Amino acid sequence: MELKHWKLRVDGDHLAWLAFDRAGTATNTFSREALTELGQIAEHLASMPPKGLAIYSAKDNGFIAGADIEEFVALKDAEAAIAFTRLGNEVFDRVAALPFPTVALIHGFCMGGGTELALACRYRVADDGPSTRIGLPEVMLGIVPGWGGVKRMPKLIGAAQALPLMLAGRSVDGRRAKKLGLVDAVTPRRHFENAARRFLLDRPAPSRPAFSAAITNWPGVRWYVAKKATKEVAERFRRDQYPAPYAIIDVWKDFGGDVRNVPREHPASVASLFFHPTTANLIRLFKLQERLKSFGKSDAAKITHLHVIGAGAMGGDIAAWCALRGITVTLQDLAADRIAPAIKRASDLFTKRLKQPHLVQAAMDRLIPDVAGAGVARADLVIEAIVENPEVKRKLFAQIEPRMKPGAILASNTSSIPLQDLSPVLARPERLVGLHFFNPVAQMMLVEIVQAPQTAPDVMAAGQAFARQIDKLPLPCKSAPGFLVNRVLSPYLYEAMLMVDEGIPPETIDAAAKDFGMPMGPIELSDMVGLDIGWAVGQELAKPGFPIPKKLQSLVEAKKFGKKTGEGFYKWVKGKPQKSTSGPGTLDLKSLADRMVLPALNEAVACVRERIVADADLCDAGMVFGTGFAPHRGGPIQTIRARGKQEWLRIMGELKARHGLRFEADSGWDSI
Ligand code: NAI
Repeated sequence: MELKHWKLRVDGDHLAWLAFDRAGTATNTFSREALTELGQIAEHLASMPPKGLAIYSAKDNGFIAGADIEEFVALKDAEAAIAFTRLGNEVFDRVAALPFPTVALIHGFCMGGGTELALACRYRVADDGPSTRIGLPEVMLGIVPGWGGVKRMPKLIGAAQALPLMLAGRSVDGRRAKKLGLVDAVTPRRHFENAARRFLLDRPAPSRPAFSAAITNWPGVRWYVAKKATKEVAERFRRDQYPAPYAIIDVWKDFGGDVRNVPREHPASVASLFFHPTTANLIRLFKLQERLKSFGKSDAAKITHLHVIGAGAMGGDIAAWCALRGITVTLQDLAADRIAPAIKRASDLFTKRLKQPHLVQAAMDRLIPDVAGAGVARADLVIEAIVENPEVKRKLFAQIEPRMKPGAILASNTSSIPLQDLSPVLARPERLVGLHFFNPVAQMMLVEIVQAPQTAPDVMAAGQAFARQIDKLPLPCKSAPGFLVNRVLSPYLYEAMLMVDEGIPPETIDAAAKDFGMPMGPIELSDMVGLDIGWAVGQELAKPGFPIPKKLQSLVEAKKFGKKTGEGFYKWVKGKPQKSTSGPGTLDLKSLADRMVLPALNEAVACVRERIVADADLCDAGMVFGTGFAPHRGGPIQTIRARGKQEWLRIMGELKARHGLRFEADSGWDSI
């Protein structure tokens, strides 16, 4: 048999060893060609059966990342999508039907189609290393795990465990997979061969779910589990905006987990999902995420020692995050008692993420309180996150620069001060870069990497590589007030606050934004971030003649900063805003959302025109990954394109007549 992507050998014990090594790519993904070959191999082995078959990846980075996304997006129509789905199902069904034991040996990532192939095997063994991730993330692309995942995973581990994984697109490591029953054994990769031999020759009974898990697939119970899952999904997603999670539940509940059984016109069918605009937008965002990751590829040496100055909300959490990611971090502030709360938060983060006490202890050991600032002289990178005051920052820079190692990089986490205002005190301004993190650091994926006119290209590249080193997404930005994210977000938040001044209830404004697809309303978000911060950023970005929200001003004067002080636009009790439940009355939520969102769209257009980021795609990526801007719409620029710029400009004209100059269209609209 002529094979391009697979290597098959049969050893002296009559065990077959099948390595996936997709030709021409660094990562194993399922193209049609690779799938077809696998089908042929299964057919061949069925006709001359070995004693057993082990499937593994010949690539070091992982097992299989899923279907080839490039082939998927290139599918011309629903027929082609249905055919691709059928092919995957037929091939995996053939693997599942092999008349001898089969085992998947999983290391690194095992996603989507990779997990579905593993599920089609009789046994699964996973590497116990930290890079093992097993999951069905299709929902994040707006589709369902259509190659048997929806059928096989609930059968193997019970629906109560499988549905949450599929509905969130979450992946698990080897140990967690073993606990769930998703894999049969966890062992270091170097022991894979022995483990495979044991399973294939000893042929233990295949794993079965516990009785309590098995009954979740029984008809009556299934109905109940599906109802509960639908309710939970509905709390987060609207079906018209995010059909895929609902489709997963439907396919499991009504169609035996097999997408081939779903009638074409049903909203859960392959054809319906394939044509839904959300799917195209989510796939585009996935590719943009890959593009952001590629900005971090560099030959720059890894940061082994980081020094952070300022142990407040941001500096403390940046230090903790970097220690979690394996970097030695020294953390400086004016006094030890200012560092202590950051260490406590770090300990909570490590416990939550690392679980095992020896790993938590190792992370704690990497995070070193350093009031004297001894770490400055040893660090490869120094990040400043002290008060947002240019004078104080300049003074600090002048003190520390002479003590830094030659070749070390100095970074500022400033949200609004142009770097060129800070660099005059530096002997080497070319070594200064902006690393603008978002709050809360552990949750927000984006870091704006800010380039001042003096910043050297290799320093930019090192900043981008550092963001990848700590598993964040780097977005290169020009150093102008607010960079990209705050500049686009602020006018939206301010417009929402001006609506409050007009007497529109905050609850209604937040509901309108959520209806549009924002993860949280602008008033709740402002309260959460802190009205003092919103005020400061607003002042920095204020344009002459634009109104200042009066309620915001009075709250800030009264030191009612939102969640952190217990009161802002809302009263906050136990970390939750107290909202009144009365409905929007006669107000039209869609027009309210249009009015709030338009100032952000207009600013996004201005940022693209001024090349704050390199292009419109990066503007969308920044807003989605930096603020959660309605992912199903694909970001602000895509929102303009989807509805049509003429329509947005028409609405903007009307709003300008009513509210004045802040609705003046930017000159960049012509080129969107
Ligand atoms: P914060 O007020 O929570 O913390 C600042 C810390 O710096 C305090 O612990 C203070 O004692 C310390 N500090 C002040 N001067 C110092 C000095 N000379 N030497 C050593 N430590 C000093 O402030 P936060 O919110 O953490 O902000 C810090 C920086 O991060 C600011 O530049 C801000 O613009 C930026 N930022 C803030 C975000 C937020 O949401 N809070 C988001 C992104 C950036």
